[in-house]
Amino acid sequence: MKNINGRDWIPVRKSNLKYYDDINLYYLPKKSQNVLLYKAAGLKFTDEYLADNPFTGSLYIQPEDKEKCLREAQRGFSMELTHNILNEGAGKVKAGLLNIVGESLSDPRAGGLGVMEQTVEVVVDGYAKQPEIIKNLARISHSDYTTTIHSINVMALTVGYCFYTQKDIGTTVRYGLAALFHDIGKTEIPIEILSAPRRLTDYEFQVIQSHPQLGAEILQANDSSVHTAIPGALEHHEKVDGSGYPVNLKTISEIGQILAVVDSYEALTNDDRLYRSALEPIEALEILKKEVTSRRLNPDFFVDFAYSLTDFTKESGKDRYRKIFQGWDVTKHAV
Ligand SMILES: [Fe+2]
Ligand SMILES: [Fe+2]
Repeated sequence: MKNINGRDWIPVRKSNLKYYDDINLYYLPKKSQNVLLYKAAGLKFTDEYLADNPFTGSLYIQPEDKEKCLREAQRGFSMELTHNILNEGAGKVKAGLLNIVGESLSDPRAGGLGVMEQTVEVVVDGYAKQPEIIKNLARISHSDYTTTIHSINVMALTVGYCFYTQKDIGTTVRYGLAALFHDIGKTEIPIEILSAPRRLTDYEFQVIQSHPQLGAEILQANDSSVHTAIPGALEHHEKVDGSGYPVNLKTISEIGQILAVVDSYEALTNDDRLYRSALEPIEALEILKKEVTSRRLNPDFFVDFAYSLTDFTKESGKDRYRKIFQGWDVTKHAV
């Protein structure tokens, strides 16, 4: 948000301009204090339009158009995402997801989170058609590891888990959405604490631990289509032995327990922390196995999740993979 001459304006991302046919766009002419109309709603923003109407600086929208912009961008984006899943590689799919999820997480209390359900539906539909593309999403690393990247990865892994365990499509979309929003409370934690390159103080740790509750509040403030994501946001750091946070729950929702597994796995396999490099899938599973043995994670969800990753782990050696489950009853799982 930018205040110009006593009024608030929202700068527009250049990559999203192509979606804003039905939106008024504004600009601030050089050496002027007054924002003027740049393109009226109904006109297309094309290369020709840009050539005829050059401008410097940013284009802006009015705050009251924010939700409409998100919807318009979402509509265009869903079409592009479908196209990319069917015709392009995982890299392009991920770049597109980053754009739209980043936009939606940039101001999550503005009330526009509901539109993300459509995105998750496209991803779930894409998994049915091109499972390799969606499976590979979580493997594409980014130098800049953010809550947005982490959330997209956790969503892709959760959708893969739901397909492996043959959940119905409605549940798969709901769980995918819960995965996408599980850390939405982190959008309100100061970045200096989130990315502090050192051990956190007790106080800072407490601030981080407030993100499940903050996340539930943000989701509650949005429309009811995202309220199903609240248990996942609230409970993904609870542990079945009662040692988790924020309230030491022992009876945890199914999605809370699934996300506890998927979230830890994603954090271990990504090159996100400043202290260490990413672990191989098989190494991350070994660490999670210890959490299961000490009864902090649910064994059934862990085994199902591990098997939903078999394509990733194959390359690390199937024998080694089998060893993880030695002595465990995993007969219901195909190898
Ligand atoms: Fe979290
Ligand atoms: Fe997380």
